[in-house]
Amino acid sequence: MTEPTLNLTKHMGIFGFTGSGKSMKAGWMFEQLRKQKRPFILFDTKVKNHVGLCQMKGVTLLQIAPGKTYNWKNALKASKYIVATPVKETKRSDLIAQYEKFAEVVFQTETARTLGIEEAHLWNPSGNVANEILENIIREGRAYNQNLICIDQRIQSFPKDLWSQCATSVICKMGIPQDIEYLTRLIPDFAEQNLALPQYGALIYDHTTGQITGTLHPDQIHRITKHYG
Ligand SMILES: Nc1ncnc2c1ncn2[C@@H]1O[C@H](COP(=O)(O)OP(=O)(O)O)[C@@H](O)[C@H]1O
Ligand SMILES: [Mg+2]
Repeated sequence: MTEPTLNLTKHMGIFGFTGSGKSMKAGWMFEQLRKQKRPFILFDTKVKNHVGLCQMKGVTLLQIAPGKTYNWKNALKASKYIVATPVKETKRSDLIAQYEKFAEVVFQTETARTLGIEEAHLWNPSGNVANEILENIIREGRAYNQNLICIDQRIQSFPKDLWSQCATSVICKMGIPQDIEYLTRLIPDFAEQNLALPQYGALIYDHTTGQITGTLHPDQIHRITKHYG
């Protein structure tokens, strides 16, 4: 089976409820980015989830401990491929505050990177209001060869200012009626296409054409590193 081609250096959203296979797919994409030698930072919100990616050569783990001060510029220089994670004691709000500083440094130094944003809703003040730094990168980062891969649970409550800038959305099989209704307004045959998907499958939505351009079958997600989930 041929792997679908997804442009991983353009802005993307990956949506689906908990356990629908978002992180598994995101990890697979970051494996491909490493193969393509495309520098990245994957901002994780869980301790283990993506640590398996560090099995690949040159991918380093950056653990964010409570109350610690980091030199983000040095961190950027030290590694092209970073998986950032909290430690057990790190509070969510402190983690995101640190991540915001790191993302700000990436933006200000105009460093080419793909930034993976796990649980993007934790970054955004609300579903209507986008995180300022994410909005800056999604609007202006293209000029510096920066792109976002945002991973979020609810497509409806993902800020429109971010979603409208995405080139592609990977929409995991949906089970929440409100989400299905919402997407059916955008894509008339969404409900049937969604229903036909196997568990962990996803539809690829192309923002420029406003159409579903393909499906991602769970068997196509060949992971070479361990996903902890
Ligand atoms: N493509 C897949 N093939 C087989 N199992 C999968 C696939 N994607 C996800 N899973 C299973 O579902 C679990 C949860 O997936 P995960 O990607 O962590 O979900 P989430 O959407 O919450 O990020 C995984 O640990 C794995 O057991
Ligand atoms: Mg996840």
